Amino acid sequence: MAKYHIAWLPGDGVGNDVMEATKIVLDAVNLDAEYIHGDIGWEFWKNEGNALPDRTIKLLKETDCCLFGAITSKPNEDAQKELKPEHRNKGLTYTSAIVRLRQEFNLHTNIRPCKAYPGNPLNYRDDIDLVIFRENTEDLYAGVEFRPVPKEVFSALMVHKKMKRFEKIPLDEIAISLRIFTKKACQSIVRQAFEYAKEHHRKSITLVEKPNVIRETSGMMVHEARQIAKEYPKIQFNEVNVDAMCMWLVKNPQDYDILVSSNMFGDIISDLAAQLVGGLGFASSGNIGDNYAVFEPTHGSAPKYAGQYKVNPIATILSAALMMDWLGQKKYAKHLDDAVSAVVKEGKIRTYDMGRKNTTLEVAEEIAKKYEELK
Ligand code: IPM
Ligand code: MG
Repeated sequence: MAKYHIAWLPGDGVGNDVMEATKIVLDAVNLDAEYIHGDIGWEFWKNEGNALPDRTIKLLKETDCCLFGAITSKPNEDAQKELKPEHRNKGLTYTSAIVRLRQEFNLHTNIRPCKAYPGNPLNYRDDIDLVIFRENTEDLYAGVEFRPVPKEVFSALMVHKKMKRFEKIPLDEIAISLRIFTKKACQSIVRQAFEYAKEHHRKSITLVEKPNVIRETSGMMVHEARQIAKEYPKIQFNEVNVDAMCMWLVKNPQDYDILVSSNMFGDIISDLAAQLVGGLGFASSGNIGDNYAVFEPTHGSAPKYAGQYKVNPIATILSAALMMDWLGQKKYAKHLDDAVSAVVKEGKIRTYDMGRKNTTLEVAEEIAKKYEELK
């Protein structure tokens, strides 16, 4: 029996292309693993009214971790239109399957490295090496939202004096999405960031929030982070507002080391940071819980490129490296990272985003070949 059982979820669009490519690399690594295919994505929403079928949840529960490609997400109105007629008007609402996975498996920590590989023509600078820790289960993404707003919710909110100016607005002309933070999740994301910094000899942690305006949620995150920071006197702790952070990341990205943030701000700054090191084709991520983890490229399903083997597979290959690291196979992870680095540097085989015309699979084959040479 294989040592590891890994759920294999290509999902939609280019998810299939990049996962096929990653399999080439994993075969070269020769990890003692069995990869078990699972259903997820838009097709299952349309046909079954559920983008994350129960059988997939069951599969995940029976595996050690999961590698996931990409899925298509659309706003609810469009999602309803594409639903098969027999599933319409049953009150089904579309929720992004990856957001559900993160919440149902309590994958509280999203780790997103953004490192510039030398020689990548897309680098904003060559000396950027950031790691983002994004809280992954709460905030505006908790999905507690109202439109129309039920009367009892509205009147309960009227206890807040700032609701006064909305008093006269009809209930079907107002929408509410709740930003929910718990102390436990704030402590956990900050703790993970500090522990990572300690283990990897990183110098500083920057907390990215907006406590000057969003006083209670961001305020709680700042409060908890300050307490935890005291336990790590060797690591420098900074606080920056999210808007200013966007500016500083463009101005001096090389000055930052580890960034920690809540779910939505973490989502936003991770796309910005990804673009500094070559774009979403290089952005890997791990959704990590206490006993389970899902690894995925940060990019979406790019339907217009689906099946064309055009997109860069490096983000998914680096996600597989993160997976190996999490499984405790640090040597494999390191060699794979070195192989990616060497292929980027040599510049012979590159997808269109990097200025050449090689296919998704050719890039993977080149990385697999390099891996064999380096190991
Ligand atoms: C990401 C993506 C997802 C998110 C989408 C696809 C729901 O943007 O992983 O960053 O918002 O978290
Ligand atoms: Mg995102």
